[in-house]
Amino acid sequence: MSDIVTQLEVLQTKATAALSAASSSAETEAWHAEYLSRKGKLTTILRGLGQLSAEERPVVGQKANVIKGALESALQERQAAISSVEMMATLDTDAVDVTLPGRPQTLGKLHPTTQAMREILAIFGQMGFQTYDAPEVETDDNNFTLLNFPPGHPAREMQDTFFTKNDGVILRTHTSPGQIRAMREFAPEPIRVMLPGKCYRNEDVTTRSEMMFYQVEGLVVGKNITMSDLKGVMLNYGNQMYGNGREIRFRKAYFPFTEPSVEVDVSCSLCNGDGCRVCKQTGWLEISGAGMVHPVVLKNGGYDPAIYSGFAFGMGIERQAMMKRQVDDIRYFYSNDARFLDRV
Ligand code: FA5
Repeated sequence: MSDIVTQLEVLQTKATAALSAASSSAETEAWHAEYLSRKGKLTTILRGLGQLSAEERPVVGQKANVIKGALESALQERQAAISSVEMMATLDTDAVDVTLPGRPQTLGKLHPTTQAMREILAIFGQMGFQTYDAPEVETDDNNFTLLNFPPGHPAREMQDTFFTKNDGVILRTHTSPGQIRAMREFAPEPIRVMLPGKCYRNEDVTTRSEMMFYQVEGLVVGKNITMSDLKGVMLNYGNQMYGNGREIRFRKAYFPFTEPSVEVDVSCSLCNGDGCRVCKQTGWLEISGAGMVHPVVLKNGGYDPAIYSGFAFGMGIERQAMMKRQVDDIRYFYSNDARFLDRV
């Protein structure tokens, strides 16, 4: 009996000394594993209890329980002391200086092209135009042939084209091929759609021209559609986009897919027609190519030109945004200069 009691007493002395030397939570955990866990030293000594006589066993057992209880409460005390020291240290190192000024939060905003596109689609939406999505990678047929530019037609030169390795597949040079897609989908029902999206032209980049730019196409097909419908729609658009009191004028133009074809100008909202830098002293801003849908195109779309007529127009989105927000170089749009994106 005395042997086990001596072992317990030695263990208690050693354990108590080791515990007071422990200075972190990790060390107290290691201490617990060494002395009090199921595989710890105390348990190892207590395995000897089985060899004691029936009288000795309860006496030694009780002594062991007292030592175990003492060690457990010593551990709790030590852990509490250590965790409060550790908490104070954490508070010191993670301290927040509430007197520091806050960091400015930068707010994102819509790209100027997206803003202009949404404004335009909202205006035409009020006039009953639905938005129709057409692909940017197009067939040569849709982009040219079915729009009345036969192969070898000189008007193809008006739009320098990016070709692909696949014969007859190109990057669309304008949104007009969407006219063929919309007509073939809806014929012979009447149509009133807007076709927005990216276009590509293999052109020199200048202050007014990019290789990738956005257009939005408008297409109306029905019975008794006339040039004055086109004029009314354009005038309404001009007033809403550029302010009330705008005037509209048509200048003769040529597109193979419209006849007659025009370019549409709106009186300059900045100088009210007197002439300024933005309208290049003319008093007019060009907003769109347009015209009455050519009978050949109507037929290619599935409409009988003897019964149906229509008008179409196509405008450059960046150019609308440039006029509206007085941006004098299209290259700002896609050069990702945050100062420009922030201002416009
Ligand atoms: C066309 O693309 C015709 N499809 C427009 C049309 C549609 C006419 C329906 C009749 C009926 P144009 O090549 O002029 O036409 O281009 C139309 C507009 O797209 C131009 O007025 C301009 O605003 C814009 N645009 C053309 N090329 C570029 C370019 N490289 N960079 C930026 N904008 C461009």
